Amino acid sequence: MSNRIAIIAGSPSEGSRSAALAGHAAERLAARGIATRTVHVRRLPAEELLQARSGIGTSEALRTIAESAAVVIATPVYKASFSGLLKVFLDLLPIDGLRGKAVLPLATGASPGHMLALDYGLRPVLAALGAYPVLPSVYGLDSQLTNPAEGRLVIEPVLELRLLEGVDRLAEAVRKSAPVQHTLHEATLT
Ligand SMILES: Cc1cc2nc3c(=O)[nH]c(=O)nc-3n(C[C@H](O)[C@H](O)[C@H](O)COP(=O)(O)O)c2cc1C
Repeated sequence: MSNRIAIIAGSPSEGSRSAALAGHAAERLAARGIATRTVHVRRLPAEELLQARSGIGTSEALRTIAESAAVVIATPVYKASFSGLLKVFLDLLPIDGLRGKAVLPLATGASPGHMLALDYGLRPVLAALGAYPVLPSVYGLDSQLTNPAEGRLVIEPVLELRLLEGVDRLAEAVRKSAPVQHTLHEATLT
């Protein structure tokens, strides 16, 4: 299985809903023969993130993004936007760090009113990084999935369907993209 899609889990929380949703997307991609590698930003060194200074602690995560053909970005909605933790990680990417990569944005939030947070908050940042295409976002309400900290993830069918549509679009975008030269090992960065 080629390892072609990076997942950025941008929640500071352990037992994160948005990370669980991204994990579910990874399982569906694996079923299509597409491997993923997850960067849990909360596990990266705070100094490098907060000082916008990439170093030994963030280099592997940055390489994972650079070598990927496409990216899933998962975040909670915080104060009507994406998480600050995700932003400080994206700030470490080079100019054009997502050039030509398809991106599937995923978010979870408590309020249906913040469904567009990814569209008005994250999309301009992805455009500045050169991401293309940026696929339609998938937004899950907390009420539509179980708390991963409480055991097995259960997702409401309507959200599951939207997630599967997103995964299909991403798989199609990867299929169309040129093959990646690098070989990554399937793993989760710690
Ligand atoms: C600091 C903070 C701010 C939040 N702000 C919002 C918000 O503005 N809108 C919203 O719908 N949910 C908000 N929430 C709820 C989270 O988005 C929601 O619980 C989400 O599923 C958490 O995802 P996670 O488990 O991946 O961290 C907030 C939660 C926290 C802790």
